[in-house]
Parts: sequence; C-alpha cells; structure tokens
Amino acid sequence: MNVLGIESSCDETAAAVVRPDGEVISDVIASQIAEHAPYGGVVPELASRAHLRAILPVIEEAVAELPRGLDDIDAVAVTNGPGLVGALLVGLSAAKAIAWSRGLPIVGVNHLDGHLLAVYLRRGDDDPPPPPMPYVALLASGGHTALYEVRSEEEILLLGQTRDDAAGEAFDKAAKLLGLGYPGGPVIDRLAREGDGLAFDFPRPMAKKGNIDFSFSGLKTAVAYHVKAHGVPEDDAALADVCASFQHAIVESLVTKALAACEMTGVRHLVLTGGVAANSGLRQHARDAAVKVGVTVHVPPFASCTDNAAMIAYAGARRLARGERDGLDIAPFSRAPGRKRGKIRDR
Ligand code: KG4
Ligand code: ZN
Repeated sequence: MNVLGIESSCDETAAAVVRPDGEVISDVIASQIAEHAPYGGVVPELASRAHLRAILPVIEEAVAELPRGLDDIDAVAVTNGPGLVGALLVGLSAAKAIAWSRGLPIVGVNHLDGHLLAVYLRRGDDDPPPPPMPYVALLASGGHTALYEVRSEEEILLLGQTRDDAAGEAFDKAAKLLGLGYPGGPVIDRLAREGDGLAFDFPRPMAKKGNIDFSFSGLKTAVAYHVKAHGVPEDDAALADVCASFQHAIVESLVTKALAACEMTGVRHLVLTGGVAANSGLRQHARDAAVKVGVTVHVPPFASCTDNAAMIAYAGARRLARGERDGLDIAPFSRAPGRKRGKIRDR
C-alpha cells in the first residue's frame, strides 16, 4: 500500500509517498525560506501564495518515484492542523481533489502526531533502531515546544509545554536581534561551536524542580537588553560567546525538563524531534545527561525532524491501518488539533 502524504501547515510545501511500515519511497520539500527571510519570520499571506505555486509540482515529483505515478497511490493523508489556516487549505484542497477524483480514502493528520511518530520512518540502511513505546518526546520547533508521553499511537499525553515562545522562535528572534538572518537556529548553532557557553549568564526561567513547562520570551528579552547595552558584538569571538551562552540556556532548559519528564513518568526512552532537534548542542547535551540517569536518547535523522510530508503520510497510514477514515468535508482543525494535558500517572 502506498500512502501519499501532503503537508502545508507553515512554510514548507511537501509531499511524500510512504508505506504503512514506515518505508519512505519519496519525500519532496519546497522550502519558502527565501520568501520569508527578508521579514525575519513567516508571513502567512506569502506562505499561502507560495504553497499554491508549489503544491502541484511537489506532488508530481513525489509520485514520479512510483512506476505508474498517481495510479499507484492507495490513500491520501493530509495535515489539517495545527498551522496557518490559509496554508493548510492549500494542502487540503489538493488532497481532497486527488481523493475525490480517484475514489481514494482520505485521512486528516495532526501535524504534531506527524512529528511525534517521525522516529518510525525508515529511510535507508543506516536508520537508528526505533524506540519502544512508551517514550517521552521533546518536540521543539519554530511553532511548538512541548513534552509528551507517547504510550501508543492513539494515547499521547501532553506533559508540559511552553507558556510563550517556542524554542525555535527564540532562536529565530535572537538571531534577528544579532543581525544573523533567518532562520536563526542553524547559524546560532554553527557560531556557538566556537564560543563559551558560560561567558554570559542568560536566564533559565521556570527552573523550579517538578515544573516541566517552558518559557523562552525572557531569554529573548535578555538578548535584546544585552544588545542594547553592548551593541551587536563586532568581533567573531564575542559574537560566538553570545550565541553559545544563549544556546546553552535553551539547551539546558530543554534537557533538564525532558529528563525530569522521564523521571516523573518512569519512561526510559527519550525522543528529540522538531527542527530544534537538529541542534548539535542539544543532541550532545541530551546524550551526555541522559546516559547518567539511564535514559536512552533517540534522534531521528535531520530530514525526519524538520517539517516534511513523510511523517504525515506515516501517521495517516497508521490511522488507516486502524480502520479510520475522514470524509471530503475535512477542514482545517476539524480533528484533534491539540492535546489535553494529562496527569502523570504513578508507576
Ligand atoms: O520543525 P521545523 O522545520 O518547522 C516548524 O514546524 O517550525 O522547525 C524550524 C525551526 C526554526 O525556528 C529553526 O530556527 C529551528 O527549527 N532550527 C534550529 C536548528 N535548525 C533548525 N534550531 C536550533 N539549532 C538548529 N541547528
Ligand atoms: Zn512542524
């Protein structure tokens, strides 16, 4: 069975073909980074228009991997929330048109379910072994930062989340303040490698033990004050120190809370996902800290961490395997766009 996945919730137009066991047949992404870079963030109206231009070529490229193209597609899975409504509508319209014209089943997929299950995608021979359930997942991207306990594909519990900015958003805003361009995560990551993470003492909010929510807006303000007081560092070493100290504050907060969530739930496997999971400091610090407390860290390959349609196709394929279907009336946010915060059970 070949499932066509379509993703257009934010600033990537993506289509992929995935088998129900997670095998990725194709995975195509048209990025809009250049479109939004001058504004330092995603502009919703520009995103919708760019999706309109890219959606059909991206789908055509994804199905071109199959011997008979679209004729070899058995079902369609499409992101229907959360995300920018105008952007979501583009992917949904394309998915519905394909499903209707070919009489194929269609399922809506929660974008966050896609990220949380992306660790099961199989891309090639060097795939890391997938984690057993339950696992704790740290989902940190430009739009979301939260901790979940994934007990099964259907039982996913929200444990904690950011009260304000997402971690990726904090990277992007700090980079803007430092004149480093958009998106900020990769460039701060690169500069931080040359700097001293302890050079400046940026705040680590909500550090109280037992609290597994996040807050990053104060950190961004601290960078803004730093720039106001000292200006944007002119020499490379000083800039690297600011980047390293900023990244260290974020990484420490993410890792401390993720491991606290493991301890509170008694779960021994931690999955890092979302665009921020690409951060080299986060990967390293998570692995170093986790090994000390007997937790195994799983990080999907970069292509599975950032927004992609393969994760949507896979999460959709799992819904289909459970016999679930949606109708052509599926709309943005029409099914479970969020998660209820769950009580951490005693084990
Ligand atoms: O998951 P993603 O591709 O899209 C969203 O759903 O938001 O994540 C994009 C975010 C951006 O904020 C970007 O700055 C951040 O992930 N990011 C990183 C790195 N690579 C991407 N943040 C820190 N370090 C990185 N290496
Ligand atoms: Zn995402």
